[in-house]
Amino acid sequence: MYTDIDKVFKEGAEGKRVSIRGWVFRQRTSGNLNFLVVRDGTSRIQVAVKKDKVDEKSWKDASEVYIESSVQLTGELKKDERAPGGMEIQVSEFKTVWRGEPFPISKDLSEEFLLDVRHLWLRSRKLTASLKARHHIVNYLREFLNNDGFYEVVPPIITKSECEGGSTLFELDFFGEKAYLSQSGQLYAEALAFSLGKVYAFAPSFRAEKSRTIRHLAEYWHLEPEMIWYGQKENMELQENMVSYVVQKFLKNHTDLLEELERDPKKLENVKAPFPRMDYQDAVAKVNELGGKMEDGDDLGADEEALLTRDYDKPLFVHNFPSKIKAFYMRDDPDKPGTALCSDLLAPEGHGEVIGGSERIWNLEELETKMKVFGLNPKNHAWYVDLRRYGSVQHSGFGLGVERLTKYICGLHHIRDAIPFPRSISRCYP
Ligand code: 4AD
Repeated sequence: MYTDIDKVFKEGAEGKRVSIRGWVFRQRTSGNLNFLVVRDGTSRIQVAVKKDKVDEKSWKDASEVYIESSVQLTGELKKDERAPGGMEIQVSEFKTVWRGEPFPISKDLSEEFLLDVRHLWLRSRKLTASLKARHHIVNYLREFLNNDGFYEVVPPIITKSECEGGSTLFELDFFGEKAYLSQSGQLYAEALAFSLGKVYAFAPSFRAEKSRTIRHLAEYWHLEPEMIWYGQKENMELQENMVSYVVQKFLKNHTDLLEELERDPKKLENVKAPFPRMDYQDAVAKVNELGGKMEDGDDLGADEEALLTRDYDKPLFVHNFPSKIKAFYMRDDPDKPGTALCSDLLAPEGHGEVIGGSERIWNLEELETKMKVFGLNPKNHAWYVDLRRYGSVQHSGFGLGVERLTKYICGLHHIRDAIPFPRSISRCYP
């Protein structure tokens, strides 16, 4: 019976006989002793193979392994303060399952090379830690929404209606007709909210982003809740409660991953609702005051977001952007004409926007007028407009980029390390 390595640490005691299987993470031979570190999906453990304690075949196998050769072994657990995790296996049987070829990844390789061998680089400490973190983050997001009475729904990926403007659309040939990869499941989530109440879509979104940045992907995972009867105030409260829930759960349960990622947990401790709120007009003034350069009517870019969040240790809402720089579906604020009932949630430390949300236009005439102003083809959006014809109600929602949130929680430098196979303007391989 083979045991997962994390269980060996949890349940193992001095002198216990254990069998594990996995891959060689490190290997060093000194005379009649082979020191290896073996990893599996759960953890890593040091193992010692002594020539006089194993048969000839075991010794030969252990001596000839490469990094990432697959192996299985049996031995006795010994306490060892110097070993990672404080335990070592003293091996009695060792078998190489697949020796393979010398692993092509060693130290000091270029980013481009590592991206070319991403399928192998995924086995690195940092990527395994960030991908585990991503798993837990998605799990906590779902848990929060499910506990709050939301239904998970699925939007289509192939669509005819743009949601976030034409400049980042990926076009495709749909049996001779023009169609697009979805930029956002929001419009469909709205239809489903009118059916089920509170819903969330969790699906990939596609953006033909023409520039290379550390926070844009061409394909990312988008969590999009949509809530009937919610105004923008309730929408923002839901967002801050959700982000606080996820960060606090993560801090409580995954100190090991934060350590592995060299992420200082103190930077996240204060991420608790309520989050500060700043009107767009105040944000423009603040950016200029802090030495940035921004005109009224400009959208926030990475530099402005970094300046605005400089003095915060929790995310910041910027709200009421000018309607003309935001999407067509956002409702105008009746109390502040010319601005939308919308907000961006900006993470500190330069991580920037993690959520964009708004109250939706739910009045038929208002929507038709706005679509004209935005020059949208009413034919492609007829079904969406239809939602305002039959039992329309106030509703709001938001979109959260899972990789952006993972980047922030894990303190990653680049968003590509929050997704296994990143897609960007310069990369669609492997
Ligand atoms: O602000 P965005 O474009 O809003 C929407 O798509 C709305 N329809 C969402 C909604 O209300 N249901 O995108 C929402 C979020 C951003 O805040 C960001 O976290 C993420 O999606 N995002 C990206 N993440 C990675 N790469 C990109 N190119 C991204 N573009 C947006």
